[in-house]
Amino acid sequence: MPASVTSLRSTDHTPLLFTVNMGLEDVVVNEYRERAATADVAVPDADDAPFGLQSYALVTPRATPEAALAIARQMRSVHHVLTPLYTFPLPVTDGAEAVLQTIRSTVESLDVEAMTTADTFRVTTVRQGDHDFTSVDVQRAAGGGLDAHYAAAVDLEDYDVDVRVDVHDDRCLVSVQHTREALSRRQLEGYQPRAALKANVAYALLRLAHRDTPPDALLDPFCGSGTILLEAADRWPDTRGYGNDWNEEAVAGARLNVNRAGLTDRVTIREGDVWHLAERFEDVSPDLIVTNPPFGVRMGSSMDFRPFYRRVLEQFHAVLRPTGRVVMLVLRQGPFNKALDDTGAFDVRHVRVIEIGGLYPRVFVLERTDT
Ligand SMILES: C[S@@+](CC[C@H](N)C(=O)[O-])C[C@H]1O[C@@H](n2cnc3c(N)ncnc32)[C@H](O)[C@@H]1O
Repeated sequence: MPASVTSLRSTDHTPLLFTVNMGLEDVVVNEYRERAATADVAVPDADDAPFGLQSYALVTPRATPEAALAIARQMRSVHHVLTPLYTFPLPVTDGAEAVLQTIRSTVESLDVEAMTTADTFRVTTVRQGDHDFTSVDVQRAAGGGLDAHYAAAVDLEDYDVDVRVDVHDDRCLVSVQHTREALSRRQLEGYQPRAALKANVAYALLRLAHRDTPPDALLDPFCGSGTILLEAADRWPDTRGYGNDWNEEAVAGARLNVNRAGLTDRVTIREGDVWHLAERFEDVSPDLIVTNPPFGVRMGSSMDFRPFYRRVLEQFHAVLRPTGRVVMLVLRQGPFNKALDDTGAFDVRHVRVIEIGGLYPRVFVLERTDT
């Protein structure tokens, strides 16, 4: 193994690496710690920017690899679960051929324990940075190195081991990926419009509400397919969920999804424009709103979002209980901040940027000013 390679398995306990949307790394660490605590497992070491990289979170639980992994498989804020093995630098200024040759020869020199008993394997790659080679080139180079070291054959579909070889700028990170399907793809059955939120992001928004106790009634005024409501039903089994959307197809789809999840007695979907939200949900008086209104990408930058957000905030204020909170995704930050000033109805408790499908909206956590 070349001296430039750092082994990531130096402690007595096996670390686990998670992949997640940029901006939600700390949510992952907190979720793992919470789940580990219920299994009596301590997690003294954790990092929400491991190796200086975004979109990963690292935890080192004091548990056997099997027990640590069993907890990891319950995670709802993540995409994939990996065991990180090695990291090494890449000579990116020397050109594509030199980089790919470095990947091939270095990967060939590595001990990947899971490969010793595997009949088949595949390589998965995420590549970030300005390179003149592709992810597929990386997969081929790393696959060539593994093929030269181990007896296992490449099988992209029916594989025993998935070796993940990620490239971030001038760094390569080698791991074993435990999850075949991303854990965030758990809501793919039923009605799934293009604008549906990923289930892990919906779950993270619920955690960012920072509630000590579960809400009585949760409202998603722009509910679409109901992703947030379904995640809330899992996180807070005693909370009543309410969804609203003005699109007939979305309302039918959300009801279908609620029905499929066996939640018809706990989650109600109503149809209508958000402008009349307070009137429509007068009987509910929610104590938490979690939602992602349209980002307005297709409406173009010429649309004035300030009056839109102002009316949304007025309705939210009118429908919420005095102690209520709002967690919402906002792409147009400037008009939103002006609308917040216009209404004076909410204090901002927390703001952060996250990445969703190449867009960078902010998560705003608001609290009614008059509480
Ligand atoms: C970004 S999508 C929400 C996606 C949802 N979180 C999901 O996972 O499927 C926004 C939704 O807001 C609805 N919508 C847009 N403007 C509305 C309005 N004025 N009143 C009610 N619903 C509205 C759209 O029909 C759409 O379903």
